[in-house]
Amino acid sequence: MTVITFITPDGMSRDVEAETGMSVMQVAKRAGIDGIIAECGGEMVCATCHVFVRSEELLDRLPPRSAIEEDMLDFTSEPRRSGSRLSCQIPISDRLAGLVVEIPGTQV
Ligand code: FES
Repeated sequence: MTVITFITPDGMSRDVEAETGMSVMQVAKRAGIDGIIAECGGEMVCATCHVFVRSEELLDRLPPRSAIEEDMLDFTSEPRRSGSRLSCQIPISDRLAGLVVEIPGTQV
């Protein structure tokens, strides 16, 4: 079991247990995290699962963005930053223990 921390736009944080094999989006939806809308269910066509990865030390453990993810990050409700990812494209693994992601304020 891996613990992920979600930071809401008002600065509150919530630790959520995540199972290997789920995506960060699925973990957020199951835990009822506001702001992870995920209209497309992980098909990479909505960009409403956008997060800002705050754990810079873990960035190189994330799978690289695909070309489609790169394109979709141009359509997020809040402008992308260096740590922007679609949370449906981040699979949970033990290597991501302690991952911290921030929810964009425009998605809440
Ligand atoms: Fe739609 Fe991630 S859930 S792009």
